[in-house]
Amino acid sequence: FQRAMSVLPKVYVTRQVPQDGLDILRKSGQVQFEMWDSDDPVPRNELLKKVKGCDGILCVLTEKIDAELLDAAGPNLKVISTMSVGFDHLSLEELKKRKICVGYTPDVLTDAVAELTVALLLTTARRLIEATHEAKTGGWGTWRTQWLCGYELANSTVGILGLGRIGVAIAERLKPFKVKKFIYTDVTPRPELADMIQAEYVSFDEVAKQSDFLAVCCALTPETQAICNKNLFTKMKKNSIFINTSRGGVVNQEDLYEALSTGQIAGAGLDVTTPEPLPTNHPLFTLKNCVILPHIASASYTTRNAMSALAANNLLAGLRGEPMPKELKL
Ligand code: DGY
Repeated sequence: FQRAMSVLPKVYVTRQVPQDGLDILRKSGQVQFEMWDSDDPVPRNELLKKVKGCDGILCVLTEKIDAELLDAAGPNLKVISTMSVGFDHLSLEELKKRKICVGYTPDVLTDAVAELTVALLLTTARRLIEATHEAKTGGWGTWRTQWLCGYELANSTVGILGLGRIGVAIAERLKPFKVKKFIYTDVTPRPELADMIQAEYVSFDEVAKQSDFLAVCCALTPETQAICNKNLFTKMKKNSIFINTSRGGVVNQEDLYEALSTGQIAGAGLDVTTPEPLPTNHPLFTLKNCVILPHIASASYTTRNAMSALAANNLLAGLRGEPMPKELKL
């Protein structure tokens, strides 16, 4: 038994992962794995020690997989499997250079992220957080004609910045709210996706100018870093609502604060920020027209289990030298 164990690929799992993923790893009999058995991130020093000699690593988005970590792991490392659709925590150049294959978890979280994005959009546009606060703290004097008025989706133009699976799923859910028009911008038109939601391709400036609601759905890459800045916000309508469920890094938060506090735009709903967690004394928390969630878009029991299962299956396939169910093309 001891001899059999010693030849199995060695894997480090950087966080407690949901049961489905764990069961797949345990029952496979294909790996010997150690897990950081906590709901909080593994300290970097510990991580650097633990990955030494590993064949595979199953990580989450809080772990930076960079040259330092890959050096610490050493030449056995063949597979990185991240339990996330986002991959901005991975140094893709380094991984490619070292011929390490990468698995990620698209598709399985699309429904959960789209649902949460719609919830955040409605919460922000109809000022639900302010409203519950008023009701609870005595601000509810009487019914008033203009009090806590917000913005409705009916007859609106919804813009999508970065059209992918998630953007399509958001638009499909918003359509029954009688949205008048969907527009999107991206590096190039994406007709096969756009046709599914009858969305029109427009320039970056036009998506800013025309959108009543603007949902950011792009990946964070060097090209999209801080793409939502003064240049975007100053072109947006005063009644517009900005929603971000992608990555905090796509937004220049000082510029967003400026736009929200001066009434350049009407509101923002953010599920992601820089840094995470956003310090509780951050200026954005002082604004009534900014709703901030702690990065929970994919947080449903079903989805997190599905993500862990896919991450485990990606890892196992990669270690067997087979194509992964969802491999990131490097
Ligand atoms: C991801 O998967 O990248 C999300 O941000 C968390 O589910």
